[in-house]
Amino acid sequence: MLPEEIRDGLHTVILGKRGIHCFPVIDSTNKKAKELAAAGAVEGVLVVAEEQLQGRGRLDRYWFFSCGENICASVILRPTLIPEAASRIMLLAAVAAAETLIDVAGLRATVKRPNDIMVNGRKIGGVLLEMSVETDAVEYLVLGLGLNVNTAIQLFPTAIHHKATSIFAETGKHVSRVLVLRRFLELLEDGYNIFRECGFAAVKPRWIALTDIFGKVVSIRTGNGIYQGIVTEMDGEGFLIIRDEQGGNRRFFSGDIAII
Ligand code: BTN
Repeated sequence: MLPEEIRDGLHTVILGKRGIHCFPVIDSTNKKAKELAAAGAVEGVLVVAEEQLQGRGRLDRYWFFSCGENICASVILRPTLIPEAASRIMLLAAVAAAETLIDVAGLRATVKRPNDIMVNGRKIGGVLLEMSVETDAVEYLVLGLGLNVNTAIQLFPTAIHHKATSIFAETGKHVSRVLVLRRFLELLEDGYNIFRECGFAAVKPRWIALTDIFGKVVSIRTGNGIYQGIVTEMDGEGFLIIRDEQGGNRRFFSGDIAII
């Protein structure tokens, strides 16, 4: 992908409009975007790579990336928010990614907490939000997107054959990564503006429309242990409310969720 291909026809005001850095090979686009942000790069600067050698997901997990076939991109954001509020941006980015797949490929994409994008029970993409904080305020955020676009299932590592998918694997059609990336940036900017003006409550219905988690019995693994219960609702701050067998309610923002 070339910067001008991404920029031409991109209907955003900020994201991707203030500098695009494209690399044939990189260690991690999030790492590069963090370096650029720390050196003063403005909100909206975008980093894209054809091949990523050390892509990372949440909890520093390895992110598989097949050269030249998928989307690997990171964008710098500089919201005036406290860190806790800024962490909601991960949810709205997952929404933007799922809505992109619905718009561009007609897929029944869903969001899975905290940062997975799923199609037919398989993971098709993920978002990674990293932040730099200075005296309790966000200095900058880097929002990374990994999205499987044109990779055939056989090309995924054997260990993830049964749990990964791509647009091509689901539809049998190759799609333009540029179109997919542009649509993601447009939907992300839209959600980001709504979130900054009106708060998370204004984005919440979009997340709820894309999940099948409510009413399911789940186990959730956090740093403090494993908890089981039924997911009953999402509160106005983006926490999931889980009711256990004794009727007690607990709020969770992150943690690995598995439907039982
Ligand atoms: C996850 O599923 O845990 C999130 C995966 C996010 C991967 C993307 S690829 C672009 C950006 N650069 C990285 O090193 N990670 C994110």
